[in-house]
Amino acid sequence: MHPRAWFPEQLIGHRVVLRRHGPGNLAAFKRWYSDPDIARLTRYQEGPMHPAEIERFFAARVVGPDSMALAVHLRDSGRLIGSCALSQLDGDNGSALYHITLGEKDTWGQGYGTEASELMLEHAFRVLALHRVALSVFEFNERAVKSYLKVGFVIEGRARDAIWRDGRYWDEISMSILESDWRHRESVPAPDEPGRRTTRPWDKLTAGIGR
Ligand SMILES: CC(C)(COP(=O)(O)OP(=O)(O)OC[C@H]1O[C@@H](n2cnc3c(N)ncnc32)[C@H](O)[C@@H]1OP(=O)(O)O)[C@@H](O)C(=O)NCCC(=O)NCCS
Repeated sequence: MHPRAWFPEQLIGHRVVLRRHGPGNLAAFKRWYSDPDIARLTRYQEGPMHPAEIERFFAARVVGPDSMALAVHLRDSGRLIGSCALSQLDGDNGSALYHITLGEKDTWGQGYGTEASELMLEHAFRVLALHRVALSVFEFNERAVKSYLKVGFVIEGRARDAIWRDGRYWDEISMSILESDWRHRESVPAPDEPGRRTTRPWDKLTAGIGR
């Protein structure tokens, strides 16, 4: 079973809806990822991605069979404003990495990205039964750090001076949220048998693989 199959057609929030990406979203990706402001916040490299790189990224990581990416749409208008994803799903340890980019800059700072992250975390913990979701964010990206803190990520470490931007070095901040953190925040009751692993969608994928 491909990881993409673990994502539903849509996750519905109050102000945003997350939907599967289709090929028609490539044009928006090309616009977003060729923007220097987006590159500054999301990329280690100086400058934006090249168009061919964006096409490869889109094919492999956004609409490819192994992709766990969803498009962020405004619920009222249906407008496509960004993308969020889980990656590097580690079935042995129940962990994944989280990514989000609102490519439409006029939508920043209005809580849409924060709500999208809440929906993704709910899916990660309630449906996929993950144990841990982690991410990294540049120190200067204060809006992103605040947004992640708001949905329950905690800072667990810093790679000092890992990124050179705007004429100086900044730390790369590592953040994570555990299923128990999320359960506590959302007042979701603990499983009947504490410590027992829930059956997880990807167990079928890893069953029988020697360790
Ligand atoms: C990061 C991102 C997902 C956050 O989503 P969002 O919906 O814009 O975030 P919110 O509107 O909930 O804002 C989060 C917090 O940042 C604050 N904030 C908003 N603009 C800010 C700014 N320019 N500087 C500092 N803080 C800011 C908000 O006030 C809010 O805090 P509060 O609730 O305590 O007031 C979204 O802005 C985005 O995709 N940005 C571009 C790409 C990016 O940075 N991706 C993350 C890479 S790790």
